[in-house]
Amino acid sequence: MISIEFVSPADPRPQDGALAVLVHEGEALTGAASAADQASQGALGRAVGASRFKGAKGQTLDLIAPAGGLGVRLTAVGTGKAGEFDAAACESAAASAFQLLRASGVATLTLALEGASAEHAAHAAGGIKLAAYRFDRYRTTEKAEVKTSITTVRIETADPAAAKAAFANVDAVTNGVIFTRDLVSEPANILYPAEFARRVKALESMGLEVEVFGEDQLREMGLHCLLSVGDGSARETQMAVIQWKGAADPNAQPIAFVGKGVCFDTGGISIKPADGMEDMKWDMGGAGAVAGLMHALAGRKARVNAVGILGLVENMPDGAATRPGDVVNTLSGQTVEVINTDAEGRLVLADCLTYCRQRFAPKFMVDLATLTGAIIISLGMDYAGLFSNDDALSETLLDASKASGENLWRLPLPAAYEKQIDSAIADMKNVGGRPAGSITAALFLQRFVDKTPWAHLDIAAVAWRKPSSNPTIPEGASGFGVRLLNTLVAQSYED
Ligand code: BES
Ligand code: MN
Ligand code: ZN
Repeated sequence: MISIEFVSPADPRPQDGALAVLVHEGEALTGAASAADQASQGALGRAVGASRFKGAKGQTLDLIAPAGGLGVRLTAVGTGKAGEFDAAACESAAASAFQLLRASGVATLTLALEGASAEHAAHAAGGIKLAAYRFDRYRTTEKAEVKTSITTVRIETADPAAAKAAFANVDAVTNGVIFTRDLVSEPANILYPAEFARRVKALESMGLEVEVFGEDQLREMGLHCLLSVGDGSARETQMAVIQWKGAADPNAQPIAFVGKGVCFDTGGISIKPADGMEDMKWDMGGAGAVAGLMHALAGRKARVNAVGILGLVENMPDGAATRPGDVVNTLSGQTVEVINTDAEGRLVLADCLTYCRQRFAPKFMVDLATLTGAIIISLGMDYAGLFSNDDALSETLLDASKASGENLWRLPLPAAYEKQIDSAIADMKNVGGRPAGSITAALFLQRFVDKTPWAHLDIAAVAWRKPSSNPTIPEGASGFGVRLLNTLVAQSYED
């Protein structure tokens, strides 16, 4: 754990630590950077002149053992253009400085933000906490020299008390992201549906209400389509329902979030190739994001009523597994011919969406799912696909996307493609062939939302990062969706 402190620029800096200063793109050294330049007898300015450092976003320049009592290391961090410097740029610069120095050997990093607002300082702290994230639970023999050496981050700011107060909200959201990252990182032998449900149940200590339904109850309730996905698994299928009642009226109409929680996706009888199958431990990234969002809303006591529904199941092949060609009944009454047991996410969501609207009649439902490989082909690694039956909801989501930096791109739901999921013997089939695979998956989901305003986020590409260019997202689980949807709530749905 890294400790983050807000301190006054007048407080003495530890002499064995590192100092990071911000430099705007194409501009002369100002503020702490100019003071550091003078103290180092012009070393910083000379280093900038001798290098290609121009202050571009994410660029860093590192001086070791500078003169002038600046500690053992002085780092200039580019922020991008001064005119575009905002909380997100400040967060990103802080995260870049942290990543550069993470395992450098220094224990204390001081970030000079004396000119920035309390809000910016709070976001810098959040960025550092996200950058510092590592899932270390199962490492036992890591060499000391590759371990994170930074234990303390000091953020120098004009009003430390105000920054600390602003950090409370940012930190609640950051902790939600970290809760999601921990869930998504766990291997499937540890995090199976019942264990996922237990970890969510433990959130009751934060003031959330959590119900967990097992297979007997789900069968009685009629969620046969969800259950069909888990028929081949030794692990019991679960559905978790999480409620946060933060609005002035606890009975006011809620907003709702639904997550695909396939704790492992082998493909079932339509089994996947061995190569890369281990990645399918994170096929619960949608449910992980919904759980982290509820954690964030409770942590910052958001003035909203929100429901989170998680469909938790493991897709395995065995003698009891669903076969290609089987027909299953859904909670909605519609029947589905399961052509490919690997198109299981939509079967999970079909029943969870129906349950959600029947029980809660929410203002809207947003589902998150690592639903299709095709979305990776369509949009690459930096965008989640957005599908919606409601233009107003789409716009608020796209606004939240811009504000949070979690990218969405809207794709259409053409009625003409509906025939791709027609079945010869049931109301629909669960696959629509190769063309527009992400769209036909979304069209399938749309058949279960009725008139409820709904959006579907296909996060198959973004839930997990291979080595990443974003300093706040270390390699691994990204926590995508928590900040996006927290921003949606904060911007548009609080009392
Ligand atoms: N969980 C996968 C989607 C996925 C693929 C996520 C790759 C992340 C990376 C989903 O359950 C699946 O298997 N989808 C199939 C659908 C197909 C059978 C219509 C796919 O995308 O291949
Ligand atoms: Mn699958
Ligand atoms: Zn899947």
